[in-house]
Amino acid sequence: MKTYKELPNDAGSNIIGQVTAQADRLQKRLASVKHTVAVMSGKGGVGKSALTANLATALTLRGNTVGVVDADINGPTLAKMMGVRNATLEYTSVGVKPAVSVLGTKLISMDLLLAEDDAPVLWNAYTQKDAFTWRSTMEVGALREFIADTEWGELDYLLLDLPPGSDRLPNVAELIPNLGGVVVVTIPSEVSQLVVKKSVTLARDVLKVPIIGVVENMAFYVCQHCGEEGPLFSADETLDEAFQQVILGSIPFDPRLARCSDTGTPYIDEYSDAPASKALRQVAEKIQAFFEN
Ligand SMILES: Nc1ncnc2c1ncn2[C@@H]1O[C@H](COP(=O)(O)OP(=O)(O)OP(=O)(O)O)[C@@H](O)[C@H]1O
Ligand SMILES: [Mg+2]
Repeated sequence: MKTYKELPNDAGSNIIGQVTAQADRLQKRLASVKHTVAVMSGKGGVGKSALTANLATALTLRGNTVGVVDADINGPTLAKMMGVRNATLEYTSVGVKPAVSVLGTKLISMDLLLAEDDAPVLWNAYTQKDAFTWRSTMEVGALREFIADTEWGELDYLLLDLPPGSDRLPNVAELIPNLGGVVVVTIPSEVSQLVVKKSVTLARDVLKVPIIGVVENMAFYVCQHCGEEGPLFSADETLDEAFQQVILGSIPFDPRLARCSDTGTPYIDEYSDAPASKALRQVAEKIQAFFEN
């Protein structure tokens, strides 16, 4: 397959000019961002988005200016989790203004661009079969525009909530060559750890992206009546030795966190004394320490 640089005749599309201009816009926008953090997991449904929303809030409450990119183009959930689904995006000559949560965290998400709740993201192609072939390319293009065209202003942190699967990180690492690091999310089950280990290897050894650490989510439950802790998954599952060395924290399961995600309420503010809130704040503190020390 030829790359666009090898095309002898671009039929007047000036494709190289377009690609270069887009890359320049992205780099200019990222110049006002101090630290970029990708939240990822090889596994789906382990709490990447819920943790991203809460960690962004925790970093905001620590006095940072924080932006979030919902990099899950086809299954965006962050506008709902951060309580900004009703926001109307404002377009200016220098870009689109991100939605802002009640505590001041900024967000851009495909969800903010879709008119109806049940509207899927359909890529425009000659047939949907062609769209399938190009989907990955088009997703990267959409992500590039999200980051580059959003009027973020000066940010201390830009968090990216990645869709499930380790194949997405290479795209992000290509878009953001100086990606600050990744936070890897797993749940205690061996099934999850098996898959998530592969993501860690890919990030660290292949893409050479710094691993900020691993967060063990839904690590245990805490009885809301007596405070007793118990395993949520199999009692004999322990965290892999490799993960233990880079663990940022273990977040218990709390039904109130799930509820807050559904209602768009900032959980760590609403239930600031809950064990999961304390654990999330500690993870945010460690992320900040990673960059500042
Ligand atoms: N510690 C927790 N306690 C209670 N509920 C949680 C916790 N972490 C996540 N959840 C809930 O679990 C569900 C799945 O979480 P979430 O959507 O964040 O996972 P995900 O990894 O982003 O999924 P996907 O792979 O589809 O993007 C959500 O309803 C979320 O609110
Ligand atoms: Mg998600």
